[in-house]
Amino acid sequence: MQQAVCAPKARVPDPSPDESLPFTVERATPAIGAYVGGIDLRDPLDEPAYLALRRLLIRYKVLFFRDQDITPAQHVALAQRFGELEVHPVFAHHPDHPELALFDKSGEKRGHENIFHSDVSWREVPSMGSILRCVECPRVGGDTIWVNMALAYDKLPEDVKTRIATFQAVHDLLPLFGKVLSPEQRASVRAQNPAVTHPVVRTHPESGEKILFVNEAFTTHFANYADTTAYRFGFDLKLAEMDLLQYLFRQAAAPEYQVRLKWQPNTIAFWDNRAAQHYAVQDYYPAVRRMMRATIIGDRPV
Ligand code: SIN
Repeated sequence: MQQAVCAPKARVPDPSPDESLPFTVERATPAIGAYVGGIDLRDPLDEPAYLALRRLLIRYKVLFFRDQDITPAQHVALAQRFGELEVHPVFAHHPDHPELALFDKSGEKRGHENIFHSDVSWREVPSMGSILRCVECPRVGGDTIWVNMALAYDKLPEDVKTRIATFQAVHDLLPLFGKVLSPEQRASVRAQNPAVTHPVVRTHPESGEKILFVNEAFTTHFANYADTTAYRFGFDLKLAEMDLLQYLFRQAAAPEYQVRLKWQPNTIAFWDNRAAQHYAVQDYYPAVRRMMRATIIGDRPV
């Protein structure tokens, strides 16, 4: 008998033909991402447009909008339509809008976002989503990659899913950002931002999907790893734990779960930090790349 071929549950579907949308939508890859057209993000979103965009964000995990010449104030207003915004404790801010983090990179000022991560997973209440606008970018290079972490979870072997089902992991901002801070700044950032613990597998509050929620930038170790069958000495325990964590980190690197965006000035990307990770490719120096990001506060992972 011929076996039925099942599409993974977490793969994104086409918009259903009976779904009437106030703009055009074109999928970017089978795994993640869609280009949204016929919308002007300078205008406040009315309720149908807001609801439709929110639905698309949950489904595609990252939305791309071309040619959106919006002001910083319009950028903030757009993001605020989706929730309260946060102020990042380390990044530079726009002088009039502290909610807009500035990523101004060049040969002299290089970035450290070339590692897979979910924005501010080190917060007790991490981000729901981020909205990033390209102000200036190199003609070639400086792309960003996003990964569908629901698909990454869905494709894990069943024994791994069982093994990690109850695991918690610690997330911390200092391993990544500590190196650009003075000892005094580190102490002050630490006082305001203690390390936090989140489930390794979280359930998306809107889609109900299970998501692999550890990332190489901010997750430092499991909080409750213990398995006396998996080690001989305490030393083995540490290695086995780190091997498993590294294995989970590596899932984000599978091109089958990814989309890669080539930026143009005034391209906007809006992604769901609960379900996607991203990586800013740093292949363009000494060219200049300038971006602004608004980060929407989400909910406590469960
Ligand atoms: C970020 O990590 O949020 C910045 C991504 C980028 O600059 O492409």
